[in-house]
Order: sequence, then C-alpha cells, then structure tokens
Amino acid sequence: MPGHTLEHFGYLLDHFEPLLGNTPIKSIEVPIQGRSHRIDLKLEGYNITGSIKARTAYGLVRGLVDDGVLRPGGKLIESTSGNLGVALATLARYLDIEFLAVIDPLIASECRARLVDLGARIIMVDRPDPKGGYLLSRLAVVRDMLNRNEGYVWPDQYSSPRNPEIHRRLTGPEITAQLPVPPDAVFAAISTGGTFAGLSAHFREHSPSTKMIAVDIEGSIAYRGPAGRRFLPGIGASRRSSFLGSDLVDHFYSVSLRDSVRHCHQVLRNSGIYLGGSSGATIAACVRHLVENPDEIERPLCICPDDGGKYEQTVYSDDWLEKLRPDLESEAEIAGQTLVVP
Ligand SMILES: Cc1ncc(COP(=O)(O)O)c(C=O)c1O
Repeated sequence: MPGHTLEHFGYLLDHFEPLLGNTPIKSIEVPIQGRSHRIDLKLEGYNITGSIKARTAYGLVRGLVDDGVLRPGGKLIESTSGNLGVALATLARYLDIEFLAVIDPLIASECRARLVDLGARIIMVDRPDPKGGYLLSRLAVVRDMLNRNEGYVWPDQYSSPRNPEIHRRLTGPEITAQLPVPPDAVFAAISTGGTFAGLSAHFREHSPSTKMIAVDIEGSIAYRGPAGRRFLPGIGASRRSSFLGSDLVDHFYSVSLRDSVRHCHQVLRNSGIYLGGSSGATIAACVRHLVENPDEIERPLCICPDDGGKYEQTVYSDDWLEKLRPDLESEAEIAGQTLVVP
C-alpha cells in the first residue's frame, strides 16, 4: 500500500520528479514602435498540476521528506493563493497524507473546487490584512494551527530554501537546454520570490550576461511598495520576499492591473495563447522594457506561471472587468503601451 513507510515516500517522490516540467517555450511576435519583436514564453501552465507551483510543491515536500520531517501519517498545512495549494493537494493525495490549505477569497473558484476534489481540507480567511492583501491573515491562521500541536508540518514556501532551490536545479537548466542560446533577459512575476530567486541563481552562474527582471503588481510590497488593494491571485505579496536580494534583480517593474489584463487579452487575440493574470503582467513589463530600451535586448523570455483556464471568472470575464472598471480606469496609462495594446 503506498505511503506507509518513509522509504516508500522517497520511492514515490523519485517517480514524481520526472513528471515535472518539460513545459514548452513558444514565441510570439509583438509590434513595438514599428518593429516586430520576438518574445519567448515559457508556458508553465503545461505542468501536471496546471502551474509552475508543481515544481515548487515538489521541492518543498521532497525537502521535508529527505529531512525526515514529513513522515507517513503526517499532515501538511500551507497558506496559498491557489496554485501551490493545488500542487500540494496533488502530492498529498499521491503520498496518501492530509493537507490543510489556508486560502482567501481571491482564490480562483476553479482552484478551490480542485482542492476539494483532491480531498484537501480548507480554511478560508476572509479578513484582509493591513497591507491590502490576505497573506498576513493567512499566515496568522497557519501559526495558530501550528501552535495547537495537532501534528501539522508547514513547508513554508515563503522562507524555505527548497523553494528557490528547485527552480535553480530544475527550471533554470530546463530553459537553458531548450534554447539554442540563453535568453538575454528573463522576466518573471514575484510573490514569494522563489521562482525568480532560483532562476536568477541559475542564470548568474551559467549565463551571467542574462538580465534578470522582476515583475510585481501595483499594491504589492514583495520587492518594493507602496502597499495597496490587489485583485489578482498569484502575483504580489503583503510583505517583502525573503528570497530577493538586490544582487539577484537587475530591473524591477510594478505593473498595473489594467496593463496585466490588457496584455492577457492582447496575447489571446494575437496569438491564441490563453494566459493567467501574472503572465499578462510579465509580458506587460517586457513590452515596457522593450519600448524604453529599444536596443538593449534581442531575446527576452517571459515566465508564464499558469494558463487562463482558472481566470474565466476574472481576467476574461466581462462582469468582473465591469465591476473593476473604476479601479482599472483610475490607473495611469503607461507611455508607449497604446502602441502595442490598441
Ligand atoms: C499565477 C502565479 N504567478 C506568479 C507566482 C509567483 O511565484 P513565486 O511565489 O515563486 O514568486 C505564483 C505563485 O503562486 C502564481 O501562482
């Protein structure tokens, strides 16, 4: 019977690792100031749990098992905006252990339904934190549950070195192996900052000339501020990332909700690729960089953490856009954007 000895956990995880990644890179052509520019997209929605967080969840759980902290009969708890929760719930089911997901109302309804289908227990935190998000409230609940000593193990995606490490070890080398020459700039959205930090460590070592460009959403303080209300799950945070030292970041962009959404629609219309909200933010930052620095980079790569499937009720919903119209319209236009987003 699976999952009954620590050795068997190791065996199961050894068989899970080859199922991760191998996600495609597709190129789109974007007209920028009268010239067509190629942008490579790493489509992480093709991961087995539907997002880049399949890799992160595996890295975190593998670390806990290797350290002997997570054992058969153990129980996981984690705060999640959705994607990591689905990935941890998949692994928990695979290892035949319990998982308690601490989520908030911004979670995509599709993600929530999938957590339930996968047998996860759920705590919904509905009190926003003072920074305009829910992260601090979610973490308070996780700490409260841990203090009750009910045997929960917390992977702690926010500060476990296993988070960036899996992207340094798997995601970065996969990209390098897929492309004939390394990208000259990598754009990646940040929340915990784990994906970005791991990729940056990889490229600093194997392609030091690659510029590492971090992308956040307005209202997040994952890298800089100011804090404000946010509407998209996945990207951004109510506190500083513990992984993002300034040595890892060459440029930083804070993108508006409006530009994130517009670029999702633009890419869908022009290429048929259906992307999640943080991918739209990442492409918006890339386009802005190309507009402002026309001759600096030739081969940019954008990490696209997930696809549009779970954003039908938000980014791709007319009702949602209509409800947010005051917020969307109060955001400033970014010079140059109208060139590429009619
Ligand atoms: C959709 C989406 N985009 C971006 C990110 C950012 O990833 P990280 O936490 O590694 O910074 C996440 C993380 O959950 C995500 O789900």
